[in-house]
Amino acid sequence: MRTQVGIIGAGPAGLLLSHLLHLRGISSVVLERRSRDYIERRVRAGVLEQGTVDTLVRAGVGARLLREGMSHQGIELRYGGAGHRIAFEKLVPGRAITVYGQQEVVKDLIAARLEAGGDIRFEVDDVAVHSLEAEPYVTFGGERLDCDVIAGCDGFHGVSRPSIPEGVLSVFERDYPFAWLGVLARVRPSAEELIYARNEAGFALHSMRSPEISRFYLQVPADTQMADWPEERIWSELRARLETVPGFTLETGEILESGITPMRGFVAEPMQYGRLYLAGDAAHIVPPTGAKGMNLAVADVRVLAEALGRFFGDGSTDLLDGYSAACLGRVWRAQHFSWWMTTLLHTFDDDDAYARKLQLSHLDYVTSSEAAATTLAENYVGLPEQAVAMVGQEGGQAGHGDQR
Ligand code: APR
Ligand code: PHB
Repeated sequence: MRTQVGIIGAGPAGLLLSHLLHLRGISSVVLERRSRDYIERRVRAGVLEQGTVDTLVRAGVGARLLREGMSHQGIELRYGGAGHRIAFEKLVPGRAITVYGQQEVVKDLIAARLEAGGDIRFEVDDVAVHSLEAEPYVTFGGERLDCDVIAGCDGFHGVSRPSIPEGVLSVFERDYPFAWLGVLARVRPSAEELIYARNEAGFALHSMRSPEISRFYLQVPADTQMADWPEERIWSELRARLETVPGFTLETGEILESGITPMRGFVAEPMQYGRLYLAGDAAHIVPPTGAKGMNLAVADVRVLAEALGRFFGDGSTDLLDGYSAACLGRVWRAQHFSWWMTTLLHTFDDDDAYARKLQLSHLDYVTSSEAAATTLAENYVGLPEQAVAMVGQEGGQAGHGDQR
């Protein structure tokens, strides 16, 4: 079998890349370990930046997103017995976020690819990438796929990144001493916008998927087991952490799904080796507090599709050679913002009384100074291309990370 781009992984990164390449007349085959049903049901993040929405709409896969997605003009920071709205319409006019589940994006992309005759192989075993320096190929389930380029879109635990020879990648990493317990519930949202709540007992987030479905997260210790969290405990903890302002009542309902997400920041540089290009979670992950994971995956793929368009158009590798540098500015901005939001809102066990005072002072500043609130707002809705283009390009001078 032969294709121009062999794509490992059918998450948002792999599927969108396949679709964008198709629009440029470039062929690809997507190889996914899981079943279609599994990836269409997998509950993940749900906040799309303006730029992500624009990309999906421009690519012709935004119809349902525009119909069913919920546009939000602000978020609330809740702490110290009061709520404070970060008003996007005032701070970053014309830019907003859209709440729309990642698995809905995945469903829309799969439908678009299959309708266009795209080749997505689900439930493929033993995917391996070979000969990355020249004439690369992929093997899976006893078959061989020859390609010009391989796109590693197989998430943090995929095979692509570990196939890069030792010593090539620099890895930058931060583990947090807590995780998020996520809950999807059949209950109408208790507020119109997202609520990021800071408490002494830990962070809580009120989010949603539709007028009938709510999404919640609780900060829990990193080694938490779901078995320790029966439904009553989840609701009572959510109540304790969210019902902290006068007049707010948390609506409760049937829990449809729950799970634990580790909190980690991670970047592998460069996002490329030979003819293998990494995109999305395969190259970097962020703690979910800034809601950046899926948006970064989409931003990478936008750059990669354009670079591949040039490469297959006139054979020029200039954009491909600059792929990693072109992405890393945004990647590091998102790393910083996600770390910053995480630090602002979570309880750290080793924080002393002084550190807690600093955190509260920081929250007071963000919620009272227009300049500080704008910093949060512009990062949250997503910075435009030019604002992140040059950031982080001195990586080598700024520190080397761990060689991998
Ligand atoms: N072979 C084939 N497919 C694989 C393999 C493998 N060895 N390993 C992983 N995969 C698949 C996974 O099953 C998954 O469907 O690759 C896909 C990777 O998709 P995502 O994890 O969704 O990653 P990405 O497309 O980069 O999207 C990033 O996902 O984790 C969230 O918060 C993150 O929103 C962000 C988004
Ligand atoms: C979600 O709705 O899943 C969500 C929202 C905001 C975040 C993270 C996740 O910061």
